[in-house]
Amino acid sequence: MAIRKIRLVPDDILRKKSRPVEVVDERVQELIEDMLEGMYKAEGIGMAAVQVGVLKRIVVMDISDERNQPIVMINPEVTHSEGSQVHREACLSIPDLSGTVERPALVVVKGLDRNGKPQELRCDGDLAVVMCHELDHLDGILYTDIATEFFGPDED
Ligand code: NI
Repeated sequence: MAIRKIRLVPDDILRKKSRPVEVVDERVQELIEDMLEGMYKAEGIGMAAVQVGVLKRIVVMDISDERNQPIVMINPEVTHSEGSQVHREACLSIPDLSGTVERPALVVVKGLDRNGKPQELRCDGDLAVVMCHELDHLDGILYTDIATEFFGPDED
């Protein structure tokens, strides 16, 4: 395992569209391990592969307090979304900033788990927010594109 450098704005790669994973092989699994390690080390709650410079449609997240419930989604697709919620978001690629964003209250996402097995996740609350944020990364979208209000590091 290795810690991969987290790409920061205005790195162009963050604006690129990631490509589907064709085979969930050892290299992909190693990338996922590195992403999780990097996310935990940076004290983040989610990360997309593009944030470590790899244009593959892979996202990882963990919103548990204990930091022991990782979720991995490969080639995620939203199959259902409903409602809305407004939440304050931040991003490992955009230091010292947070912003208010409106997202669906519930999303159902299907894709593959880290072993390449199909999985479907029903995400609500904070998990819906993080999932939508990470999915946007796969299409080169940053939360700052859709935020309505911004806060610096010292603002509540
Ligand atoms: Ni982000």
